[in-house]
Amino acid sequence: MKTKPEPNRRFSVAPMMEWTDRHDRFFLRLISTHALLYTEMVTAPAIIHGKRDYLLGFDEAEHPVAVQLGGSDPRELTEAARIAEGYGYDEINLNVGCPSDRVQSGRFGACLMKEPDLVADCVAAMATEVAVPVTVKCRIGVDDQDPREALPTLIEKLRDAGCRTIIVHARKAWLEGLSPKENRTVPPLDYDLVYEMKRTYPDLEICINGGIATLDETKTHLKHVDGVMMGRMAYERPYVLADVDQRLFGVTTPSRTRHEVIEAFMPYMARRLEEGVTLHAMTRHILGLFQGLPGARAWRRHISENAYKKGAGLDIVTEAVNKVREPDLETHSAD
Ligand SMILES: Cc1cc2nc3c(=O)[nH]c(=O)nc-3n(C[C@H](O)[C@H](O)[C@H](O)COP(=O)(O)O)c2cc1C
Repeated sequence: MKTKPEPNRRFSVAPMMEWTDRHDRFFLRLISTHALLYTEMVTAPAIIHGKRDYLLGFDEAEHPVAVQLGGSDPRELTEAARIAEGYGYDEINLNVGCPSDRVQSGRFGACLMKEPDLVADCVAAMATEVAVPVTVKCRIGVDDQDPREALPTLIEKLRDAGCRTIIVHARKAWLEGLSPKENRTVPPLDYDLVYEMKRTYPDLEICINGGIATLDETKTHLKHVDGVMMGRMAYERPYVLADVDQRLFGVTTPSRTRHEVIEAFMPYMARRLEEGVTLHAMTRHILGLFQGLPGARAWRRHISENAYKKGAGLDIVTEAVNKVREPDLETHSAD
């Protein structure tokens, strides 16, 4: 029986391996209070056997935050979900969309599009054990599947297994012949099919993902589906999130300027440096913050050339930020 409230999924930042780690999420949270943030995918065996605090630890300020699990063994996933729930995540999400070789060899990720019964078993098993919602992120199909069959088949089985929320990356994955990167650009996007899923299954929460670059586009999608998940743009140009609270969640107070974001990130970085985290591990996520402003390139360069050095401290960030001019009246028009 569910006891935890559903997080608001109107706008979320996608799970991205190597990118949406805890430092990135803390940083993004300084730009938007309401966007739902996803972790990188963590495999169930890693959670069960690996360094849990390292894999799952996060800062309270990151809420609302969802953990994405990788796996296809209902028993393992259930154990991993229980452990993750204990860390305080607001949602458990299962990865049915990631096409990398490493992921396929473990029989999880996008290849599970071909095993909808197994996915439904995994979700049902997890949902009986945890009080937080269990969701799925999938593709519209893989390889020679017909998305018009594969996607509704998966969705119906998930619905019957008690899953209420499905996030659809609106393109197929080709498991052979394309790299993971190509699988995020080459297969064509089919937003209409995702819209159709919402019309066909109105009781389910359907969120759309793939190629969404602005908040104007987000608003258009929200006329057809319940939520939008943004990936690469939110990482590469994080200030696109600056208007999310106001335009999508009705917040009336202004969000932080870019310089205020850095100022607010400083105490966090100081704490983590004391714990032995390197400056580079954190600053690598913030390079795109000033994109489009005079001095943005100098900011990037100063950080890239210095943050990785042994003993690098916050003075590097202060020096870099002094190279950027921010308009006095910030317009937040990154979108
Ligand atoms: C660097 C990188 C890592 C990714 N890792 C994951 C992952 O761990 N799990 C997942 O479901 N999708 C992963 N994705 C896919 C994204 O979540 C998203 O579905 C995809 O980038 C399409 O959205 P976008 O066009 O807004 O970027 C990754 C994407 C990128 C760029």
